[in-house]
Amino acid sequence: MKPFDLLSSASAKRLTALSEAMKSTHLKSLFAEDAERNNKFSIDHNGLFFDFSKQKINEEVVAELVELAKEAGVAESIEAQFSGEKINQTEGRAVLHTALRAAKSEEVRFEGVNVVPFVHEVLGRMEEFTRAILSGERKGYTGKTFTDVVNIGIGGSDLGPAMVSKALEASTNGLKAHFVSNVDGADLASVLNQVNPETTLFIVVSKTFTTQETLANAEAAKAWFIEKATGEADVAIHFAAVSTNLDAVGIFGIAASNVFGFWDWVGGRYSLWSSVGLSIALSCGWKAFEELLAGAREMDHHFRTASFEVNIPVMTAMLGVWNRNFNNYSSLAIIPYSQELSRFAAYLQQADMESNGKYVGRDGAKVSHQTGPVIWGEPGTNGQHAFFQLLHQGTEVIPVDFIAYIQPTSSFKDHHTKLMANCFAQSEALMNGKSAQQVAEQLEAAGLTEEERAKVAPFKVFEGDRPSSTLLFNELSPKSLGQLIALYEHKIFIQGVVWNVFSYDQWGVELGKELAKRILPVLEGGQKSEFDSSTSGLIHRFLGSSEK
Ligand code: F6P
Repeated sequence: MKPFDLLSSASAKRLTALSEAMKSTHLKSLFAEDAERNNKFSIDHNGLFFDFSKQKINEEVVAELVELAKEAGVAESIEAQFSGEKINQTEGRAVLHTALRAAKSEEVRFEGVNVVPFVHEVLGRMEEFTRAILSGERKGYTGKTFTDVVNIGIGGSDLGPAMVSKALEASTNGLKAHFVSNVDGADLASVLNQVNPETTLFIVVSKTFTTQETLANAEAAKAWFIEKATGEADVAIHFAAVSTNLDAVGIFGIAASNVFGFWDWVGGRYSLWSSVGLSIALSCGWKAFEELLAGAREMDHHFRTASFEVNIPVMTAMLGVWNRNFNNYSSLAIIPYSQELSRFAAYLQQADMESNGKYVGRDGAKVSHQTGPVIWGEPGTNGQHAFFQLLHQGTEVIPVDFIAYIQPTSSFKDHHTKLMANCFAQSEALMNGKSAQQVAEQLEAAGLTEEERAKVAPFKVFEGDRPSSTLLFNELSPKSLGQLIALYEHKIFIQGVVWNVFSYDQWGVELGKELAKRILPVLEGGQKSEFDSSTSGLIHRFLGSSEK
């Protein structure tokens, strides 16, 4: 497929003009002029209501964004990905995380071979392992039933499972899950302090099985365990591994029956659907894991078959392109009104920023347009009392994705009503703002003198006109979570197509790793090396202080 140059495309030129024209129109006047606006700019699909009417768009903009998607070859790209083409060209790999959630009856071919039976063979082993552990059939070295699972991994081998497990643990049954990722020993120490070696299962998760952080934590956890247990033989009972590098797992010393593989056509940050999700299955139960996959599969089907105008991932992606490239908004806030989704923004940071945070286009030349925005966020309402001031009155416009659920997840039903009132109020406030006249009237009603009013009024005005979308699901369930994650995965992919970057590699994280390998022996005291004056100053200070 020929590389797509966003800014020289015909639709981009028209979108640039439309964005200029839209500048003088306030979002609230778009609502005032059209009673049908919410109907026009929303998609109701299988338990999810996607409301994008508070984006700064009109029908012409949407039509042009759809045109842009067509011009960029989005339809062809979707088919190329789903049908196992090696679209991750810099690593020479296919991208088939969708095959991980394919039904047994489906066929997904890679190099002429249907991979679905392999996927279901591993799923079958995971199910059996999960059943044996949760039923108590497989026990710890002293004969006790397992109570805790510790997932040792980082990046895609941590963030997805940790996010999902946190989101579903309260509504499901399984082991208590812990996640150790950082090479800061404090992370491992804090988890080891909470668990009993007799009843704890460790899963070492690393696609490559070469990641420094994970190997350091896995070795330390193994040493801790051996010291507490009756000997090295107990490792076979308490340690499992998930990897594509089975040789390295063997060298680490994990019993083959406890090793779960996956394939190089699964990107790390897209891997929670594979055996990387073993800690999800163990902490939430097998049924929940299956429903998670089913939710993602449902979204895959929608993504692959719905026309662009009513295709939630495509529209989400194209609205993001509109905001990033035609309105110059450089970040996107992800605000779930759900405490269970407290790790969702962190998860999405890797999924999105490691995929599309790239300035080199598919032709190897620097792109001339902006690519991935900064992704960040925290759950509401906590975020309201932290950074929402900047969202409302900061000098930069930051679009927001609100994520909310109609059904409460706790028995505190009144809390949920309050939570939703806050969620809806925030998008309304960002959109409408508060005019100088409204402020003046309120201050007058509060009894302030004219002089007092004049003094304080400017600070109380909100310009509004700040865009947001709301993803309103019926309920937080394994299925709806699967839908949500798959939705964002597909959004990221489409944006990569439009931005003409390779979304499935991550060369940008390599340099730091390489340099850390060079610095480590110096810090360990054995080697000398040349650095810039800042780096060498930091090293000297570290060595000087740590020697004392
Ligand atoms: O940080 C880069 C990265 O390769 C991520 O893409 C990946 O999710 C993470 O490291 C962990 O890699 P692995 O699963 O191979 O340990």
